[in-house]
Amino acid sequence: MVACFPIDVRRVLVAACRFVRRGVVRSLVALSIVSLCVVALALVGRSRDPGLAQANAATIALNRSTNISTTSSTTSGYYGIPFEKTPSPAAMTALGRTMFFDPALSASGRQSCASCHDPRFAYGPPDDRAVERGGPTMHDVGVRAVPSLRYLQNVPAFTEHHAETDGNDSEDQGPAGGNNWDGRAPTKHDQARIPLLSPFEMANRDEAAVVARIAASRYAPSFRDAFGMHVFDDAALAFQAATLALEVFQQSPADFYPYDSKYDAYLRGRATLTAAEARGLALFDDANKGNCASCHPSTIRDGGLPAFTDFGFVAIGVPRNATIPANADATHYDLGLCGPERTDLADHAAYCGMFRVPSLRNVATRRTFFHNGAIKSLEAAVRFYAERDTHPERWYPTRGRSVRVFDDLPARYRANVNDEPPFGGRRGAKPALDTHEVADIVAFLKTLDDGYRPSPAR
Ligand code: HEC
Ligand code: HEC
Repeated sequence: MVACFPIDVRRVLVAACRFVRRGVVRSLVALSIVSLCVVALALVGRSRDPGLAQANAATIALNRSTNISTTSSTTSGYYGIPFEKTPSPAAMTALGRTMFFDPALSASGRQSCASCHDPRFAYGPPDDRAVERGGPTMHDVGVRAVPSLRYLQNVPAFTEHHAETDGNDSEDQGPAGGNNWDGRAPTKHDQARIPLLSPFEMANRDEAAVVARIAASRYAPSFRDAFGMHVFDDAALAFQAATLALEVFQQSPADFYPYDSKYDAYLRGRATLTAAEARGLALFDDANKGNCASCHPSTIRDGGLPAFTDFGFVAIGVPRNATIPANADATHYDLGLCGPERTDLADHAAYCGMFRVPSLRNVATRRTFFHNGAIKSLEAAVRFYAERDTHPERWYPTRGRSVRVFDDLPARYRANVNDEPPFGGRRGAKPALDTHEVADIVAFLKTLDDGYRPSPAR
């Protein structure tokens, strides 16, 4: 079996183990030994750049989801159900890409994944709407802001008890991981079924409706080529093939984790930060100032470039957004981890108000911030951190001198809200960051946009 590996497997595995820091993923490495064979070719010739770490980790995630079987030379497995043909990663990437951009996959015929996850905006929203429109006639609206799909290749599986496994430190750091603001989708193929079938997104009646659209598309022949001549005979199987292809496409490094921001160039020693950017980085990292890196890590760890998220869940008390139609009902609250979108943790009161820490890569391409899009500029998003507790009247509804703080969270859950720096501080006190410092952090955050091209030497 090992003979099929085109490169030194042990070297790749050792590198992957060193680079992948989460124990859960580490054990998957062992399980993935054989399936690595399938994608090992893609790793040939990569340099020892920190980006390699991410590529390896993504490869492992890919294997975890594709679960390519070794018992037969002709079939592959997906949820244990064999496809007629073993699809190649390249064929799946190409099909996934085509489907991602195909509006014909929606009931309206007008919405593709890319309508909300626009590649021009790092696969985030193309506009400043808090929630996007969709549904059969494009008149329905969603409940949450569209996240960027970049740099999600290493999102760990959801766990309630995340532990850093480095050294002897096994402190339980609480819930982490999973896809979506509330971590409810275990994998990207599970995730993909949500928009395809959601009545306010692509609004297909059922899996068979999606499959019928693919079978009628111009790429139906490529779909058969990849998965087998009879793939459309079984709608459930064909739906799995489709969501698998979407998942594999989202593992494509050039599209989803290019690591080509100015900050990446800086970390590689190939760019210099301006004075403002460098001050912003220092404030971002300083535990007594921004303290941003405590949740949005900014340094190379275990050989991997930073994701700017630790994938944990935190309640930061973002203001309620009255423009979201669901919020017209004063008794409706989006509580993230404890529901209502997610249902399995509804009885965990301590989780109410918690959302997954988003990556800050490409955050400057956004025009709507946080899970409910309540804040509309990056400057305001950073200032919110500094002023939430010292000047709550700037962020929450007021009546006279009284301020309804944390107005998007029922009073009984307010103890869940994080109050470590940069939060905290008496009302009226000096915020942890002044206007210039906020501007410096914003300047730094702009270095996290992909597509940096160093200016030619003068
Ligand atoms: C109508 C807009 C819309 C469309 C169309 C849409 N999405 Fe999304 N997507 C969202 C929103 C909003 C969220 C966050 C949902 C949540 O947290 O509950 C999301 C979340 C995701 C996530 C999880 C990201 C994360 O941070 O964990 C993935 C992956 C994703 N979408 C992929 C897709 C794919 C693939 C398609 C096409 C099949 C698609 N989306 C179509 C709006 C959309
Ligand atoms: C205690 C953990 C924590 C700290 C510290 C923290 N963040 Fe966050 N950050 C989060 C969480 C959680 C969210 C999502 C919250 C939500 O939407 O309800 C978030 C969201 C954001 C967003 C919005 C991103 C998007 O895609 O909409 C920005 C911008 C941001 N943080 C910047 C910062 C900056 C700058 C700092 C330091 C001044 C900082 N964060 C400190 C946890 C943290």
